[in-house]
Amino acid sequence: MSWFDMRVRALREETRDILGVELASVDGVPLPFDWLPGAHVDLRLPNGLVRQYSLISRPADSHLYLAIKHEAQSRGGSRWLHEELRLGQILRVGAPRNLFALEDGSGEVVLVAGGIGITPLLAMYRSCRATGRPVSLHYFARERSGLAFHQELEGQTDVFLHVGLDRAALIDRLAELLSAYATKAGLYCCGPAGFMQQVRERALVEGWPESALHQEHFQAANAPTTVASFELVLAASGRQVQVGAGESVVAAAARAGVEIPLSCGMGICGCCLTRVLDGVPSHCDDYLDTDQKASGNWILPCVSGCSSTRLVLDC
Ligand code: FES
Repeated sequence: MSWFDMRVRALREETRDILGVELASVDGVPLPFDWLPGAHVDLRLPNGLVRQYSLISRPADSHLYLAIKHEAQSRGGSRWLHEELRLGQILRVGAPRNLFALEDGSGEVVLVAGGIGITPLLAMYRSCRATGRPVSLHYFARERSGLAFHQELEGQTDVFLHVGLDRAALIDRLAELLSAYATKAGLYCCGPAGFMQQVRERALVEGWPESALHQEHFQAANAPTTVASFELVLAASGRQVQVGAGESVVAAAARAGVEIPLSCGMGICGCCLTRVLDGVPSHCDDYLDTDQKASGNWILPCVSGCSSTRLVLDC
């Protein structure tokens, strides 16, 4: 991945716990890359962490705009950004990547956001509005004060704000809004894992085809499951090392002196994708599709492990 230095040009409080961050090129020249709605960037933080955030702005804005929620369970990424980031600071930013693109077509786009999941969907909403594509945006939040960008969204006839619903009311509301699948429609959902699961289950019950459902994952759905020790052979480097129970393949490889490139560290971005030469990977990622997993030819070693006693990788 290509990395760029970018300057923090503005910081805004979008809600009490959502920080808006505007990043521009250091020397004021146009940004050296393009992107489409649904894209995200990696931020490499000074504390060594790399985190992914959706792009809300458009290339025509000539800056990146991100909205970052201060996660209560922060592993150090959002906490650092909320507490340490300052105006004028330089951050390393990866070129945008898109794992959640809007599909081409003229069918209706139904956007369902839970909490901070609004960020990629807001970019999609703006894009549909700009191009005249039929769109509706459903934005769920626990409380009104948690609705980011409400000034832009309130009052729009194709935006529906759902605030303070308990679980039963949420299920009823989803049933209501997903009840009419129209041919060629696409459903794009982003939010907490449990929320996305409920949206997906409800859509399938209501007759939405699998091919019409799109979700953005910013949290690994599965926890790493390396439960037993195994031998790791790094064929291209000529190294080998024992992977301890509970240890990640990436960490074991690093002990052996081999750096496997990392980005999300959660099995969702594909950055660490590595070819398997021998052994049986046990997949814990959300990146490979079912066929790729079944082939046993690939592994995301940041989260996945091995169910055989030996794993040989092409790195
Ligand atoms: S680093 Fe993102 S999938 Fe492994």
